[in-house]
Amino acid sequence: MSGTAPERGCGHNSQFYLMNEYIETNIGRFTDELFELLRIPSVSADTTKAADVHAAAAFVAEKLKAAGAENVEICQTAGYPIVYGDKITDSSKPTVLVYGHYDVQPPDPLELWTSPPFEPQIRLVPGSGDSAIYARGACDDKGQMYMHIKALETMLHTGGELPCNLKFMIEGEEEVGSSNLDTFVSENAEKLKADVVLISDTSILNNENPSITVGLRGLAYMFVEVTGPNRDLHSGTYGGAVPNPINVLAKIIAGLHDENGRVTVPGFYDRVEELSAEDRAAMARAPFSEDEMKKSLGLRDVRGEKGYTTLERKSIRPTLDVNGIWGGWTGEGAKTVIPSKANAKISMRLVPYQQWEEIADTFKKHFTELAGPSVFVDVTWHHGGNAAVTPTDTAAYKAAEAAFEEAWGKNPIPMREGGSIPIVALFERALGIKSVLMGFGLDSDSIHSPNEHFRTYNFEMGIKTIPLFYKHFARLSAEG
Ligand code: BES
Ligand code: ZN
Repeated sequence: MSGTAPERGCGHNSQFYLMNEYIETNIGRFTDELFELLRIPSVSADTTKAADVHAAAAFVAEKLKAAGAENVEICQTAGYPIVYGDKITDSSKPTVLVYGHYDVQPPDPLELWTSPPFEPQIRLVPGSGDSAIYARGACDDKGQMYMHIKALETMLHTGGELPCNLKFMIEGEEEVGSSNLDTFVSENAEKLKADVVLISDTSILNNENPSITVGLRGLAYMFVEVTGPNRDLHSGTYGGAVPNPINVLAKIIAGLHDENGRVTVPGFYDRVEELSAEDRAAMARAPFSEDEMKKSLGLRDVRGEKGYTTLERKSIRPTLDVNGIWGGWTGEGAKTVIPSKANAKISMRLVPYQQWEEIADTFKKHFTELAGPSVFVDVTWHHGGNAAVTPTDTAAYKAAEAAFEEAWGKNPIPMREGGSIPIVALFERALGIKSVLMGFGLDSDSIHSPNEHFRTYNFEMGIKTIPLFYKHFARLSAEG
């Protein structure tokens, strides 16, 4: 592990030693600074939090500058700003673009948090001896993004020359689909030019088995509204004679999967990449424990598409899930009413080759058909993005592998993950630049859920691993 630092005074290793010492000396301050950022409720989905989202951008810009980045700007977009900064030292060195996000998911339901979401606290993770920072955004992605700013500070304060040119691009709309990123990226192609994008916004398998994410799913996020009568009705007077939009919506939703757990949207699987037997066998060898997952989630059993393992279902297979549903009377007590409207938010996770616009269109037709003629339906998409797979035969992937090996003493496993980060496919499409997904979270960190946390060990190890990525990337790029 990193604690067993090599001896002082021998080339690369002396800086490695100095950096680890600097990180260990300053980790308390790094954590305090992260706490300051975590106290800002920068929820991009909540328009009442707009000032906080801007405040988080200003905080990131200030800290990026303090760490030693140059040309720091808060770039305005049609939505929330993108914080840019760089440290270009030598045009002959490779350039790495670090991407992260300062926005977070809504914290609700608030009553399920042990400590308030925007009052960060360090405490033990139940059932383990590990301490973790508890707050919305602790892992996704403020904590992981902040590791990069502190890695920059560490490299610049320990006297070494930066092995790579660095650019930073930290956005504030990732959790709502990065809709303004497309325009920003194409308008700033020259400024963002890099050899690779480095992102810490994913997980590792566990701390004994670090992994590098090599695939993310895409997403098509839909809003649906079913309207029955033109106003709410007395359920005694009209009940049984008019379409109840909630009943209809529930039936439509039930019809979106068949008895094998497959999505019924026509053509949904047409473009889906089927993995080879070898790839599936390799996945099955990953030290993932379904029992542990069940235990930690309090599940009686798993459920999903027939013919696939849990690990496959949560990474390489496309899915459809209702993310929210509402309508009718949900206040205190009873109200006998047939509501006029029922609504749901439905998202589909997509895999390589599925095209989100095509899927969104077909979903709309299918949903309307399932609704039948008695109700009006309105189906719109909110945001979308395609899946991305990152190659493992590149200098950048090998550099991430070597960085993990050096810092964690373990060879990291390549793993596909089920979440989405829209910029990965966008960067590849718009600028032809591949990403390396070197995340340090754990699946059990409760991202998007109450009690989100990030282990202090992972925060510190992330800061120690990042500079090693640059070192190895420079070396491997020079080797060609
Ligand atoms: N950090 C996550 C993505 C992620 C989660 C990757 C788990 C791998 C494992 C990211 O911030 C996120 O949540 N993205 C959204 C994107 C969406 C709004 C387009 C997601 O996946 O829901
Ligand atoms: Zn994230």
